[in-house]
Amino acid sequence: MLSSIDSLNEWIRKGFLDINTELEEYYYSKNTLLVDDEITIALKKSLVEEGKALIAAILDNPDEIPAHYEDRFYLLGNVGMYMAACRRHEADTPLENGYSPLTEASTISFQLGSALGVAPRFMATHLGIYNRAENGVYRTFTHLKDEYVFIDYNTLGTLAYKKASDALERAMRFGVTHPLTAYLFNDAKTGLDEVLKFNEILDEKLDVMRFFYNVRPYYKPYRIGRRDYRGANAGDFAAVNEIDLFTGLCSRDDPFYLDILIDKKAYMPQDEQIRLQDSIGKTSFMDLFLREPDTSHTLPEFKANLKSFLDVCEIHGRAYAYHHDELVKKYIEDPAIKLPETKMDDLTASGPPLPVLLRSLEKIRDLRLAADRDDILTRYADLKKLKGLL
Ligand code: HEM
Repeated sequence: MLSSIDSLNEWIRKGFLDINTELEEYYYSKNTLLVDDEITIALKKSLVEEGKALIAAILDNPDEIPAHYEDRFYLLGNVGMYMAACRRHEADTPLENGYSPLTEASTISFQLGSALGVAPRFMATHLGIYNRAENGVYRTFTHLKDEYVFIDYNTLGTLAYKKASDALERAMRFGVTHPLTAYLFNDAKTGLDEVLKFNEILDEKLDVMRFFYNVRPYYKPYRIGRRDYRGANAGDFAAVNEIDLFTGLCSRDDPFYLDILIDKKAYMPQDEQIRLQDSIGKTSFMDLFLREPDTSHTLPEFKANLKSFLDVCEIHGRAYAYHHDELVKKYIEDPAIKLPETKMDDLTASGPPLPVLLRSLEKIRDLRLAADRDDILTRYADLKKLKGLL
């Protein structure tokens, strides 16, 4: 007989997937984000009740909850996916006292979240870099092709960012005049070239309306107990920020940027949290280059490293500008214009209204591009100075 944990996992990978897919195809056939009629009401009832019974069985068998960190994190993903789907189909109307009606799921989410030191909800990493395949198939909400495309290229983008941040982390031990530092900077550049390439492929393959109507709604904020937790964000991993801080394009002394890091921390597993924390404590390459005495400037090692470093900064800015100017615009900003006012409130993962979020994302883009702006402090002048040393 399957354990309560395996029964939930089996359902998430089969019955749950079938119900969500059927609902999504039905909404899509009616050209809308959500339908409440006798067909969908029956499906939503099955979704809520089947999940409730499976999660209640786990609470009845606490000894079956795994002890290993990653297995627990995986279980939080299964419970969280159930809660995210109930929210997506608007089948979790809060009770009169303001609590989520998904009592069992809320209880176990809180238990797991506090044991793991993370937000008690589904996160993008549950479908990305912490998504275990079984018989060649990994977890998704639906069988829809566009969901696979989105998850695959997001995960590849995350892995490529990690490749780049790993190389920069190793380069830190060498410093800016070591003859092998340029080798690692070139690795970082290769990783960031791949980030840009994966973003471009995603842009080619992903259907705008399928993404907007049938994929993104699962990433919305949802209620646990009596509180809403912000949505899952494809950017909730450490590497992109490690690169920001290692390069020096963003600063650990900037409250705007620190706020992003602190917000993100609870939405990633512990090993990602530790990496992020470590990178906040390190000096940046930008500052190391700027601090080198004039006597170093003529060294061939210094020049070769500086040239490669400037390439890393350039591609980091360009890859993120593509994310902002192409992906966010095409897949969120443009389709959102067609949405009625009532559906605009939970469009963003982090919660603020879309125009506010877009202004903040634009600011991050310009920090990463070291853009010439007089209203925020970017590294434009410092990069210009360094370019002058070549
Ligand atoms: C259709 C494709 C995509 C869309 C529409 C999209 C949209 C967004 C939005 C709206 C945010 C802000 C989240 C919020 O606070 O609500 C965001 C954040 C982020 N996304 Fe994406 N994204 C897409 C694909 C990707 C891919 C492939 C990557 C690469 C791994 C990525 C990396 C990030 C990062 C790193 C952030 C966090 C902000 C930062 O630290 O720069 N996104 N994305």
